[in-house]
Amino acid sequence: MNRLYLTTPIYYPNARPHVGSAYTTIVCDVLARYKRMCGYDVAFLTGTDEHGEKLQRAADAAGMPVERFVAEKRELFRNLWHTLGISEYRFVHTSQNPAHRESVQWMIRQADKAGYIDKKKYVGRYCISDERYVSDGPEPANCDVCGRPAELISEENYFFKLSAFGPSEPGREDGKLMELYRDNPQFVQPDFRRNEVISFVKSGLRDISISRRRLKWGIPWPGDDEQVVYVWYDALTSYLTGIGFAGEKRSKDFEKYWMGAEGPTEVVHMIGKDILRFHTVYWPAFLMAAGLPLPKTIFAHGWIYYEQDKMSKSKGNVVYPEPIVDAFESFGAPGNDALRYYLLREAPFGHDTSFSYEGLIDRYNSDLANDLGNLANRTAPMINRYFDGLVPKAVEHSESDNATPSVLPVDTHARMLPRMATQTRTYTVNCFDRYEFSSGLAEVWRLIRGANTDLSNIKPWALAKDPSKRDQLAEVLGNAYEVLRFAAALTHPVLPFAARRLWQQLGQASIIDEFDPKSLRWGCVDPGTKAGKPEPIFPDFKRDKREALLTKIHELAEADRALSQPKGVQVPIPSESQPAPAKADSSSPAAPQNDSQSPSKITIDDFAKVEMVVAQIVAAESIPGAKKLLKLQVDIGSETRQVCAGIAEYYRPEELVGQKIVLVANLEPRKLRGIESNGMVVAASAGPEGKPILATFKEDVPNGTRLK
Ligand code: MSP
Repeated sequence: MNRLYLTTPIYYPNARPHVGSAYTTIVCDVLARYKRMCGYDVAFLTGTDEHGEKLQRAADAAGMPVERFVAEKRELFRNLWHTLGISEYRFVHTSQNPAHRESVQWMIRQADKAGYIDKKKYVGRYCISDERYVSDGPEPANCDVCGRPAELISEENYFFKLSAFGPSEPGREDGKLMELYRDNPQFVQPDFRRNEVISFVKSGLRDISISRRRLKWGIPWPGDDEQVVYVWYDALTSYLTGIGFAGEKRSKDFEKYWMGAEGPTEVVHMIGKDILRFHTVYWPAFLMAAGLPLPKTIFAHGWIYYEQDKMSKSKGNVVYPEPIVDAFESFGAPGNDALRYYLLREAPFGHDTSFSYEGLIDRYNSDLANDLGNLANRTAPMINRYFDGLVPKAVEHSESDNATPSVLPVDTHARMLPRMATQTRTYTVNCFDRYEFSSGLAEVWRLIRGANTDLSNIKPWALAKDPSKRDQLAEVLGNAYEVLRFAAALTHPVLPFAARRLWQQLGQASIIDEFDPKSLRWGCVDPGTKAGKPEPIFPDFKRDKREALLTKIHELAEADRALSQPKGVQVPIPSESQPAPAKADSSSPAAPQNDSQSPSKITIDDFAKVEMVVAQIVAAESIPGAKKLLKLQVDIGSETRQVCAGIAEYYRPEELVGQKIVLVANLEPRKLRGIESNGMVVAASAGPEGKPILATFKEDVPNGTRLK
């Protein structure tokens, strides 16, 4: 039996997971489902990376003990995987986990015994955000991952002799790592990433510090309680712990999936491009130093941007999956599948892609509602109407024989469908085997569109009126049915919920999760198969419905953001109205988003930067299509300003006119739903729904008076 051990990176639980973090997990879920369908024994691991300075700082900022902080945030990840229907996964977490502590300490002891560990003084620049040493020496340096200035540190540390795995001299192609890349071209994928790694290693490797003296939040260095293990050594080792490794204690699963006790296992680490070096340079060296086998493949995918821009909390453009799923589902559409399909179809896997809500809906409308949905909505009802639900025989086709006997007129495209379907199956599974999800899906859609074109050209409803055309009618509907059966099986890994429903509607008795797409053969439908009850799976979102869905997504996203903000006095304005950063962030896309790094206390000078003034509402009106927003004109003494405020659900426009409120007057203007908003209204956010209660005054105060 073929075996696959597939891992996502373990995520930093310093913030709530967004669509970017969900991406790797979704892709792995697609792959795991696909391989299980192909008969693989799959172990699928995800988890959380809980040690290190970044987490300690986040917990400090939240005013919580770090143990409790990470344990709480860890649950956000598990909850999201549940919401997204992620299948049969194992979950590893690195802190408060005795087995993991054993694993890491064992790895260190092995490397030490093999002579790969040294103790020496380290002076250098370290990026706290990315947990990485940026440069040796005290000179100022910026992190080459996130672009931020790195901090100066000096300490006596344990070093890992990474140089022993690199080339004997810079520029040479010898050494264990270069051999690994040369002998195993599939080790780093895609190829352009492999080239990147090779040129990095070829230029020479230096030893790396793998312990931290200053930090307590980590795994104690074996035999030296003053130091903890470097967080990346700790994190990477979780791939072993997660499968049942604990140093000398090893589970059967570890022996099976990592050591290959029952025959070879493909070990695949799926990662984002930002953590390529850790996985392709450090990790194989750590494993070699411990004498353990190496994974087969490290695949680095691209990043998801929001409308071409890096997602960041400060820009208010972080996309969370839950509002998307909920909004689609509130209209009876499969939200999870819509999101999964969009993420996998939009860009060639491995490359960056840009997320937009409009793009998501448009992709859903064209491919799912229009192409696949239409084919399903037309075929099953016609089979029910004209054949009492009994699935007619498609055009005959044998894979070894190019002739396709058919009673359909010679010039019809329909005679080509069987061959096309067979080719699509082969092409698509090959694509999925090579992680080329987008191309594989595009091919399935070529087939679906072909079947739709046939229905439109051949017009079975017209053939049905002529009893002498019964055979042709049977063939054209039999063909459409076969295309749907192929499409359901081939897309099931990506559309697990919708494809299962389609499979049932086709009257297929087998369990789709266990149906091997490679076994698809044209015309192999059990005689007597009856099509099930046709029910639309993909309602469309055209015209007004598109706007309604978009509005719903925005509303849910706004409510969701309000809920995840800290309690207390808040400003109930959708986050798009937060000030734009003065200048686009110059840091690279790899900079991690960090929810919790803002300090819990600010200075009086910080506060003085916020210009709050008394303002009087002189006009108020609702904004069509934006349930939560009101457009206000406010008099601030020196001028009248226009602002948008997210208070429409609690205040009627007419009751606001004349009221004195508090306005943050020195924010950069922003556009909300295309309307300029020049300031921000201050309100308390009450109760779990964050009901806005406007801050106002008991006494009369002149407009424009500054609050201090
Ligand atoms: N904890 C480390 C990984 C240790 S693995 C032994 C880490 N965590 S992370 O939470 O910052 O990132 C986890 C993964 O999420 C990375 O693969 C990263 O590339 C991915 N993504 C985070 N934001 C992303 C996007 N916007 N788009 C796509 N993937 C992104 O790194």
